[in-house]
Amino acid sequence: MTEPTDPTDPRTAEPRTLEPRTLEPRTLDQNPTAPRPASARATQGDPSVVPAFAPPSPGRPRRRYAVVGTGHRAGMYVGAVTGDHADVAELVAWCDTNPARMAYYDAEVGAALGRGGPAGLPRYGAQDVERMVVDERVDVVVVTTPDATHAGIVARALDAGADVVVEKPLTTTVEGCHTITRAVARTGRDVVMTFNYRYAPRNSTLREVVASGRIGRVTSVHFEWALDTVHGADYFRRWHRDKKTSGGLLVHKSSHHFDLVNWWLRDVPVRVYASGGLRFYGDANATERGLGPRPERGTGAVGDPWALDLTHDPRLRALYLDAEEHDGYRRDQDVFAPGITIEDNMSVLVDYAGGATLTYSLNAHSPWEGYRVTVNGTEGRAELEVVERGAVVLDDDGRAVLDPSATPEGVAAEETRPSGERLLVQRHWEPAREQPIPAGVGGHGGGDAILLMDVFRRDLREAPDPLGRAAGYRDGLRAVAVGIAANRSMTTGQPVRVADLGLGEDLALPPDDAPHGAAVTTGTTTGAEAGTTTGAEVAR
Ligand SMILES: NC(=O)c1ccc[n+]([C@@H]2O[C@H](COP(=O)([O-])OP(=O)(O)OC[C@H]3O[C@@H](n4cnc5c(N)ncnc54)[C@H](O)[C@@H]3O)[C@@H](O)[C@H]2O)c1
Repeated sequence: MTEPTDPTDPRTAEPRTLEPRTLEPRTLDQNPTAPRPASARATQGDPSVVPAFAPPSPGRPRRRYAVVGTGHRAGMYVGAVTGDHADVAELVAWCDTNPARMAYYDAEVGAALGRGGPAGLPRYGAQDVERMVVDERVDVVVVTTPDATHAGIVARALDAGADVVVEKPLTTTVEGCHTITRAVARTGRDVVMTFNYRYAPRNSTLREVVASGRIGRVTSVHFEWALDTVHGADYFRRWHRDKKTSGGLLVHKSSHHFDLVNWWLRDVPVRVYASGGLRFYGDANATERGLGPRPERGTGAVGDPWALDLTHDPRLRALYLDAEEHDGYRRDQDVFAPGITIEDNMSVLVDYAGGATLTYSLNAHSPWEGYRVTVNGTEGRAELEVVERGAVVLDDDGRAVLDPSATPEGVAAEETRPSGERLLVQRHWEPAREQPIPAGVGGHGGGDAILLMDVFRRDLREAPDPLGRAAGYRDGLRAVAVGIAANRSMTTGQPVRVADLGLGEDLALPPDDAPHGAAVTTGTTTGAEAGTTTGAEVAR
């Protein structure tokens, strides 16, 4: 008698690897989730995740944007304003501490606008944010500076009369939260947080699954994020390696992830415990593992898989190597050099107001990059698994090759762990079912282009977003609250109540925004109950 062959029957289904979805070109870059060149992007996303926008009315003036911080990330916004959103937005000024980086983008914009030379936009120094907003009649300031500078720049731009679009993390400290909340209260102006991960269809589909009630009320979430030895290492080469500047990875990087959990659950974190350490990068770990003398910087280092050679990438060269003379900013420092004050292994436990618990971990020296999320509910569980890069493949010189398809080892590794994404939903007493993930557009799992539509055309939306993806400064506060509390917990060894941080504003969600994990009465003791506060108290 032959076995039944129902592929959804877990007893008989063939063992399977993650299904590949051809979203990523097979090139290896330093940040596998960064925006891809236009040629590598899907141009049409699925209408269920790509919203519809009305055209701007004829003759409507374009909003005037200035960019503060003309480094790597600014490129996404500059490209959007000169490209897809040029009908509703225009760039009117640059502000940075480094003239070479402003000149780089000015030339790029000149070329994009077909000027036959630089665009010639006015350039301002860090001390001139207010003057720039007034003199250039700036409507919106885009803040893409290092994390610790966000709060001051956001507040100054608001006070000068502009709205703000700010990159994650909103800020790195409790004081930064105060600076921003007070400025918003003073001015009543708009602060858009660009949480692009919300816009990746795999992440918004998980939110839909949770919101649909298919897995019942959420009781816990398990979330593991792995950064690989190319992308993960990159956080240890420049300002991110300094906790004062980046807040450490639990603020800098995990604010994306904590925002996702807050948003998936529509809930508010109330208590945080964290443990972590610098266990792989840094000079002490290198010495302990007998790594021997290291080059001070990656540029010019030969046969070193940890080195980033800025001369190998014209953009990195122009933005950083050729700009060094102005500020000494070294983009390619050795990841095993002294001076690293952030962790590379982190574990966090978060209690939510609605009764769910998050267990979270971040590792920054993984041989592959991606994440796994499990959402447990009273009626089942949802599991999202994403492989952004299945293996880091090195060439004969020990460098990360640009095209792993040219390297047989790379192909073999990808066969075993192909890039892709899979969302499984399994209700109690039922087999697992794969939840289709609609196609997005552009980088960051298909979310960047959709985010940009929402940033530049929000007022032209034809209907409110059922996914609630647009984020403001209060979402930014809720996300950094976890990272800031986690940093404090790692220092004290104690759990930290978010309410005790005194972030300057109530983090509760609007009353009609009921948490998906609310009112869990399973009889088990939640962290919030076990502590000195209850979710309800904090949510008020
Ligand atoms: N959402 C995402 O996926 C994503 C990806 C990358 C970076 N980011 C965020 O974007 C921001 C910028 O990151 P990056 O990689 O472009 O950094 P970067 O170092 O490449 O660029 C930062 C720029 O800010 C300038 N700067 C520093 N201090 C300044 C000040 N006080 N005033 C004006 N300019 C100043 C620097 O000279 C530099 O040009 C960070 O907050 C980062 O977290 C977000």
